[in-house]
Amino acid sequence: MKILFLNGPNLNLLGKREPTVYGTTTLAGIEAMVRKHARKLKASVEFRQSNLEGQLVNWIHAAKGKYDAVVLNAGGYTHTSVALRDAISAVGVPTIEVHLSNVAAREEFRQKSLIAPVCKGTISGFGAKSYILGLDASVSVTVD
Ligand code: DQA
Repeated sequence: MKILFLNGPNLNLLGKREPTVYGTTTLAGIEAMVRKHARKLKASVEFRQSNLEGQLVNWIHAAKGKYDAVVLNAGGYTHTSVALRDAISAVGVPTIEVHLSNVAAREEFRQKSLIAPVCKGTISGFGAKSYILGLDASVSVTVD
């Protein structure tokens, strides 16, 4: 089982960025947690981050035939990107939306996700553990 983790804009700043909202774990720390959990599940994971919308689109396209699922924290693009939504929909690789913060409890503009309707489901509000839950969810959707 091969799972692709994609991280969008500003997530490279985790650890220093608004720690009261996003926690103090860096993205490298989250990757280490995910890799440890993946070993238990015998899943292989690839972990990437980009601040560029088009790069995320290209990675989603390239996931077709190579990965069984994508776990995506699209950051701010969650709320704005028709292009990401179209890429997920076009490629058809099962995608799990994840967020560190509980976006439903935040500003109104964060309460709308353009990608949610084309994802298998959403995990939001569990801090770094959202990624572990995202991995569990991606494994469970691929064995359905
Ligand atoms: C986020 C929530 C988004 O609204 C925000 O723009 C982010 C991070 C989260 O993981 O909680 O960059 O996706």
